[in-house]
Amino acid sequence: MKIGIVGLGFVGLSLTSVLASKGYDIVGIDVDKEKCNKISNGISPFFEPGLEKALKNGLKKKLAISEDFSLIQNCDMIFVTVGTPQKSDGSIELSMIKKAVLTISKNILKNKKNPIIFIKSTVIPGTLQNIILPILEKNTGKKAGKEFGLLSNPEFLQESTAIKDTKFPHAVVLGGDETKFMKKAKRFFSKIHPNVPIIETNHQTAEMIKYANNSFLATKISFINQLANICQNIPGANIDDIAQTIGLDPRIGKLFLNAGPGYGGSCLPKDVKAIMNFSSKVGVTPLLLNAVDRSNQKQIESIIDLVEKNCGNLKGKNISILGLAFKPKTDDIRDSISIKVIEKLLKKHARVTVHDPMAMKNVKRKFKERIKYANSISEVLKDSHCGVLMTAWPEYHNIKNSNLKNMKKRILIDSRRILKNKKLDCVYHAIGVGN
Ligand SMILES: NC(=O)c1ccc[n+]([C@@H]2O[C@H](COP(=O)([O-])OP(=O)(O)OC[C@H]3O[C@@H](n4cnc5c(N)ncnc54)[C@H](O)[C@@H]3O)[C@@H](O)[C@H]2O)c1
Repeated sequence: MKIGIVGLGFVGLSLTSVLASKGYDIVGIDVDKEKCNKISNGISPFFEPGLEKALKNGLKKKLAISEDFSLIQNCDMIFVTVGTPQKSDGSIELSMIKKAVLTISKNILKNKKNPIIFIKSTVIPGTLQNIILPILEKNTGKKAGKEFGLLSNPEFLQESTAIKDTKFPHAVVLGGDETKFMKKAKRFFSKIHPNVPIIETNHQTAEMIKYANNSFLATKISFINQLANICQNIPGANIDDIAQTIGLDPRIGKLFLNAGPGYGGSCLPKDVKAIMNFSSKVGVTPLLLNAVDRSNQKQIESIIDLVEKNCGNLKGKNISILGLAFKPKTDDIRDSISIKVIEKLLKKHARVTVHDPMAMKNVKRKFKERIKYANSISEVLKDSHCGVLMTAWPEYHNIKNSNLKNMKKRILIDSRRILKNKKLDCVYHAIGVGN
C-alpha cells in the first residue's frame, strides 16, 4: 500500500515520519522546496522532540519527499495536512487546502486504485461536503463513494508530544459515508492503532468534533485563569492547590488546569475564533466562547498591568522576557502570548530583551532589531527593571539569586508560578498567588 501525505508541517511531517518508520511506503509532498530539501536530508524544519529520529529512521526505509505532486498518482491513501490559518475576521483561510485538493484531483485523474482522501486539516463543518468534495468530483470526473473515498480525519496531536500522539492517539475520528472506503479506512487504523477507539460519523460531525475538543480545552484554560486572577487578590491563596484538587474530580480531570498568561499556539486561538465566527453565521450567538476568547485577551493585559504596577511608566524601562515559544519543548511562536506581550511592551516604549532555549531564530525573524536577544538567563536579566517569565522551560525552574544579581531592579513576574517556592532575593509576583 502506498500513502501520500500532502503538507509537511507539524501534523504532516509527524505522520509521514511515524508511518515511514513503521515501514509503510510513503510519499511526503510540500509546496515549499527548501523544506522538502531539508526533510529529504533528515533535517526537521522545526523542533519537535523525537521527530528527527523518526524521520531519519523512515528515510532508511520507503520514504520519498518531494514538491512534485505527480508522485501521489498511484497512492491508495492520501492525507491532506496543509495549514488552515485564521483570517482577520476569525474565519479560516481555505485557499491552501483548496489549492492542495485541486492539485491532488489533477494527479489522481488516471489513478486506477480509487484512493481514499483523508482531510486531517482542521476545517469548519460543511467544508468537506460543500467545498472539497465538489472540487474533487469536478476535476477528476470521478464519483465520491464509488471511485474515490473522502473522509474527515481530524488530528488531535499536541506540539512537543507530536510523535507520541501520532503513534498513540486517544481516538481516531472518521467522518464520511458508510462505503467500502470507510471499511478500508477502519481496517487501516485498527491495524496501526489497535485498542484505540474509532469513532465513525458523518463529515460535518467529524469536523465539529475537532472544534468541540479545542474550544473545550480553551474554556478550561480561561476558567482556571479567571480563578487565578481572583486568588491573586486573596492574600495567601494559591491557584495550584485549587487546580490540583478540582482536577482529582473525575468529572473535571486534571489536564489544562494550569493557570498562566493565556492560551496561545497555532490551534486553540484560531480554532476558538473560527467556531465563534461559524456559530454567528448559523445564527447562534457564541456567548460562552466570546467570554473565553475575551478573557484570554484580558489575561495578556493583566501581565502588562503587573509590570506597570511594579515599574511605573514603561517608557525607556528594560523589560526581560524569559520564554518565547508558546509552550516548552517547541520552537513554535505562532500566536504565542509572549509575542503579544512583547508587542504591547514595545507600544509602551519599553526596551525589551528576550531569551528562549529554542525559539530565538523565529523571534529574530519577526522582531529583527526592535528588541535585544540574550544567550543566557543572567544575560537577559542584566540591567533589567523587571523580568517576566512566560514559558515554563525546564531551565527556568533553576533560576537562582546569582542570575538576578545584575538586575537594575530585582522584580520578577512569574506567569507560570514555577519559582514560587524558591527564596529569591527579589520582589516576586506570580499569576494566581495572592501576595
Ligand atoms: N500544529 C498542531 O498542533 C495541530 C494539531 C492538530 C491539528 N492541526 C491542524 O492541522 C493542519 C496543519 O497544521 P500544521 O501545524 O501542521 O501546519 P503547518 O503550517 O506547520 O504546515 C502546513 C504545511 O502545508 C504546506 N502547504 C501549504 N499549501 C500546500 C499545498 N497546496 N500543497 C502542499 N503543501 C502545502 C506548507 O508549506 C506547510 O509545510 C491545520 O489545519 C491545523 O489547524 C494542527
